[in-house]
Amino acid sequence: MLDQPEATEFAVLRIGDQEIQLPIIVGTEGERGIDISNLRKYTGCVTIDPSFVNTAACYSRITFVDGERGILRYRGIPVEQLVKSASFVRTAYLLVHGYLPDAECNRKFSDLLNRHSMLHEDMRHFFDNFPHGAHPMHILSTMINALSTFYPNVDSLSMSEDIDVSTARLISTVRTIAAFAYKKSIGEPVVYPRRDLPYCANFLNMMFDSPVNPYEIREEAVNILNVLFILHADHEQNCSTTAVRTVGSAQVNLYSTISAGMSALSGPLHGGANQAVIEMLKMIQADGGNVRKYIDMAKDRSSTFRLMGFGHRVYKTYDPRAVIIKEECHRFLETMHCKDPLLDIAMELEEAALKDDFFIARHLYPNVDFYSGIIYRALGIPENMFTVMFALARLPGWIAHWKEMIGAGTRITRPRQIYIGKTYRKED
Ligand code: CMC
Repeated sequence: MLDQPEATEFAVLRIGDQEIQLPIIVGTEGERGIDISNLRKYTGCVTIDPSFVNTAACYSRITFVDGERGILRYRGIPVEQLVKSASFVRTAYLLVHGYLPDAECNRKFSDLLNRHSMLHEDMRHFFDNFPHGAHPMHILSTMINALSTFYPNVDSLSMSEDIDVSTARLISTVRTIAAFAYKKSIGEPVVYPRRDLPYCANFLNMMFDSPVNPYEIREEAVNILNVLFILHADHEQNCSTTAVRTVGSAQVNLYSTISAGMSALSGPLHGGANQAVIEMLKMIQADGGNVRKYIDMAKDRSSTFRLMGFGHRVYKTYDPRAVIIKEECHRFLETMHCKDPLLDIAMELEEAALKDDFFIARHLYPNVDFYSGIIYRALGIPENMFTVMFALARLPGWIAHWKEMIGAGTRITRPRQIYIGKTYRKED
């Protein structure tokens, strides 16, 4: 059970002649929230906050984001530190369990990941039935949902399985499914996971090894993938995590719950933005590289065009993940002796946007998705797999939130509404 902080001060709300006191809850980082959970009971009123712009939907100990100061910490540890000292697997453990594993613990967790990396053989045939050209994100979310038919007992009520095993199976199997989906899409035989390889190296090998073209696993590629995965591993109550918490609150099977999160992530306003950024940069390139034209289009209220990879609900400054990814992007391309003209366009676009009053006034900065695609391209990952990469990385975060939610004995998520439709009337 997550113990709720005690209120030490109260807000006073006056509605007509009635005055009520609402507890103000203060988080460990000083965030203040007015607890309105009893408001309707005492006043008959609900609160209105479409799209949850101003609503804290839960208490959480997992991730801290300060959007004004550009801070992101997992379990108190800044991501800047984690990318220097931890691997994705250790970060996943940190998120799910609350502490960084020692060497023995890490070895056991890595071993569990390897032991559960195989896909049930019957599931392999499912890949044959998706239409040609199906988006890998949709294949992935469908396949994860299908896992619930193989492991029906992994839910909040009948946690017959050890959470470590369920976590390891999810993180590991999803990686296998992702690589199989890619191999299937290019008509190559699937490459099975190898027990001797760590998580990220194993994934790259499953993606790129082939019977005629053995893949050389380069340390630089493994390292950069670790960095990207660490930076995407959690981001508190974003859209997909909220989907996971909402669906999970109905005591749904863990795999179906995660599949809901994946569906949410696939949208271009969320995880799908990394693919959309590269598509946008290519469009600008094909159009002669006229960056100004696209800045103007993004500002034009009559156009639906937006600068993809720009803006964020929470960050009103440079996204700390984007800071690291931009730096790593330059470093990685240099190490790989790779020149990508899209990087030049991205930098030009960023520079122009950051000087423009429209973007300045709205605090719009590059987000996590702005530069990540350029690294994925350099790794040889196709564009339609970018959001899948995001999903693989976000799994530990989703699992941590699911675990925290069921551990806290959360009630079913069920918002209210203000009905503005027709009042009672007879059939016409
Ligand atoms: N290009 C142009 N204008 C923008 C952009 C953008 N990328 N983002 C926000 N705005 C404008 C928007 O038009 C609005 O202007 P006005 O006040 O004049 O109506 C103002 O800025 C506030 O935007 P909003 O849509 O109300 O903000 P939001 O918090 O609802 O949406 C967002 C956040 C991330 C969906 C949005 O910034 C966006 O669509 N960005 C592009 C897509 C993107 O990069 N998504 C990835 C987000 S980070 C990773 C993740 O979550 O997975």
